[in-house]
Amino acid sequence: MAEKREQLYEGKAKRVYRTDRPGLYLVDYKDDATAFNGAKKGSIQNKGVLNNLISAVFFRLLEEKGIPTHFVEQVSDREMLVKALDIIKVEVVVRNIVAGSLSKRLGVPEGKVLTEPILEFYYKDDDLGDPMINDYHIRALGLATPAQMNRITELSLKVNKILLEYLADKNIDLVDFKLEFGVHGGELVLGDEISPDNCRFWDKVTHEKLDKDRFRRDLGKVEEAYEEIYRRLTGKSM
Ligand code: TMP
Repeated sequence: MAEKREQLYEGKAKRVYRTDRPGLYLVDYKDDATAFNGAKKGSIQNKGVLNNLISAVFFRLLEEKGIPTHFVEQVSDREMLVKALDIIKVEVVVRNIVAGSLSKRLGVPEGKVLTEPILEFYYKDDDLGDPMINDYHIRALGLATPAQMNRITELSLKVNKILLEYLADKNIDLVDFKLEFGVHGGELVLGDEISPDNCRFWDKVTHEKLDKDRFRRDLGKVEEAYEEIYRRLTGKSM
C-alpha cells in the first residue's frame, strides 16, 4: 500500500497525487467528461470508477503479454497506483476502422475497415488542441529520440494486436485508441489510461457505439455504454 500525499496535477479526467513511496503516484479517476479540447463539459455518473476498473483490466492483460506499463495496482474503486513517468509529449493514435477525425479529414466514411493499422502522432499540448505531427516534427523538435519512437511504434502495434484479439472474444471491435508513453527508471513504458474515454469500441454485430462518442455526439445511454464494456470485460455488473 501507499499513502496518498499532496495533489501534483489535475487533468480533465484524472487527478495525480504524490505518495509516500518514491517513484510511485496515485491516479484518481474523475466522473468529469470533456470533449473537443474542453469546449464541451459534462459528467458521466460512475465514469471514474468504471475507467479505473476497465484500465486496470487492460493494464494487467498487457503486462501479462510483456508490455511494460505504469500500472502497479488498483488501490480503490477510483484509484490506481502507478509508476511516476517523465511523460513524452507525443500522443499515439492507432486506428483499425475509420472513424472520428480521420473520417472528417480524408472524407472516408466511418466504418470502413482499414487494410492495415494507421498510426498517427499528436503533440500533447492542450493549449494548442493537440495538433497532429509526424516523425520529422518529433525528431527535429526533440520531442522523442528516434530510438524512443521505434520502441513506441513497436509497443503501440503490439498493444493493438493484443487488444484486438482480446476484445474480439468479447464481441467488441476496437475501432481506434490513443496511447501515451513515458520513461521510468530509464525504461519506456505505457502510461495514461485505456478506457472508453480514449478508445472507440463498437459492438461487433450491431456496431453500436460503446464509448465516449455517446457523450461527444449526444447519443444518450452514455453511462450504460461504459457499464456494458465493464460487464463484457469482467462478466460483472456495477
Ligand atoms: P479522433 O478520431 O477524434 O482523432 O480520435 C481518435 C482516438 O483517440 C479515439 O479513440 C479517441 C481518442 N482521443 C483521445 O483519447 N483524446 C482526445 O483528445 C482525442 C481527440 C481523441
